[in-house]
Amino acid sequence: ARYGEQAVPVAAGGETHQTADAAHPVMTTQQGIPVADDQNSLKAGARGPTLLEDFHLREKIFHFDHERIPERVVHARGFGAHGYFENYGPLADLTRADLFQRAGEKTPAFVRFSTVAGSKGSADLARDVRGFAVKMYTKEGNWDLVGNNIPVFFIQDAVKFPDVIHSVKPEPDRGFPQAQSAHDNFWDFISFTPESMHMIMWVMSDRSLPRSFRFMEGFGVHTFRLVNAEGKSTFVKFHWKPKQGLQSVVWNEAVKINGADPDFHRRDLWDAIHAGDFPEWELGLQVFDEAFAEKFDFDVLDATKLIPEEILPVKPVGKLVLDRCVDNFFLETEQVAFCTQNIVPGIDFSDDPLLQGRNFSYLDTQLKRLGGPNFTQIPINAPKCPFHTFQQDGHMAMRNPRGRVNYEPNSWTAAENPRESPDKGFRSYPEPVQGPKIRARSETFADHYSQARQFYISQTAIERTHIANAITFELSKVETPAIRSRIVAHLMNIDAGLAETVAKQIRLKEMPKAADALKPTRQDLKPSPALSVVLN
Ligand code: HEM
Repeated sequence: ARYGEQAVPVAAGGETHQTADAAHPVMTTQQGIPVADDQNSLKAGARGPTLLEDFHLREKIFHFDHERIPERVVHARGFGAHGYFENYGPLADLTRADLFQRAGEKTPAFVRFSTVAGSKGSADLARDVRGFAVKMYTKEGNWDLVGNNIPVFFIQDAVKFPDVIHSVKPEPDRGFPQAQSAHDNFWDFISFTPESMHMIMWVMSDRSLPRSFRFMEGFGVHTFRLVNAEGKSTFVKFHWKPKQGLQSVVWNEAVKINGADPDFHRRDLWDAIHAGDFPEWELGLQVFDEAFAEKFDFDVLDATKLIPEEILPVKPVGKLVLDRCVDNFFLETEQVAFCTQNIVPGIDFSDDPLLQGRNFSYLDTQLKRLGGPNFTQIPINAPKCPFHTFQQDGHMAMRNPRGRVNYEPNSWTAAENPRESPDKGFRSYPEPVQGPKIRARSETFADHYSQARQFYISQTAIERTHIANAITFELSKVETPAIRSRIVAHLMNIDAGLAETVAKQIRLKEMPKAADALKPTRQDLKPSPALSVVLN
């Protein structure tokens, strides 16, 4: 009970029956019926069979039997904390988002940090990406910035998400390995997916072994839009910069810590917050317009690319402070539902095909994970501003429209009778869109190695050694020679020295030919212009 409830002295020898008194309310069933004896079930005679009539026993066991809900399909292991976002100054020229209008204004926030691949009970210091999901309870609804601690992603199109995740999770016939990428299936998939190579460099670096959640950066990853009151739109990338600094452990420390204390990261955050050492991150923006985006060789809609901070510095606009642990892990950390489509007026999506897919995925999975459409009513998910919808009923409904009115337009006066608001309401940025309906990948997404190389050469000598050793460790667990060889073929396009070191360390018999560097992604049949659809 280091920071929790104080233990009360118990009489010597302990007691099996502790009874209610001034300090302890009467225990009841869920129906509120007072319980006389919580130690013994109802029996026909002290040694006789238990009676079905025992509603207390049945209710208690029934509820226990249903305590588990599905863990998240990814990011199952996580740890959350409350805090606030404090805005530095008005950003009205960029966005009409209410939380960015007044200097010093604080917006309540909830953050959940996570690993991606491991199950809910896996170890904190697995080599993995970390989730950095932030829910901001603004005065105009909830804004979820569902990011990671790495600024790029494995894939460019959401249609590949089930594949990359299946490949990294335990193999279906054997159910292992549990929470690490070091196995044939993962590296097999990667070897056929050169777009992953930039992310792979980050994951094989010390970035994927953060010293704690407090010492890592966060990234919104995708290009988003900011939209101001005049309707002018600017592209934006979101960054979280830890005020504590950026620190990692090294692999042999990670392996030891995982054995000695698999809860290392969650314990660190719990301890820091309870000791009053509140971690802080600055929110930074990289803002740019279409003309600026056009200048790059890569596409700002491609989530495997970042915009170098040397070219476009990150401008700090506010800070996030985490100052309170949850009261209850399940109610808050487990039931929190982040969703990329939760955005507020003044913020909008870009056409990044990964982001577009995410917007479908989160709500869909949460419907199942949290048991129905009303999980938005759970306190951790509900907005903290007034909200009024005509949505009703469904499993576990706790908040239906009040009175007679549950549709609109209507002719009633009622206590709660919401109307749409052309001025205040969310409007999608009216980006003109035109194009043929095709399954395709833009040619502007085709360069998979340049930024991987930039990342690698930006590392210090010891960090490069860590990358080479990490890939060596991973590939040494891969049993299929062709997979190892294909990975080395990709490394050759990143850095010849890295490829040679790895090849030597894994005792590759023969150096492969470098992978095709600019192999165009297969396109669908060229559509006839007559088939093109005009969308807006
Ligand atoms: C969960 C980040 C890509 C589907 C999460 C979480 C984070 C995250 C931080 C944990 C949320 C929490 O703590 O509750 C990201 C990032 C991505 C990415 C940064 C790429 C840039 C995707 C894609 C899909 C996807 C492409 C699907 C198309 C999911 C799902 C969950 C999840 C289903 C579980 C949500 C839940 O059960 O609450 N993701 N993700 N993610 N993500 Fe992603």
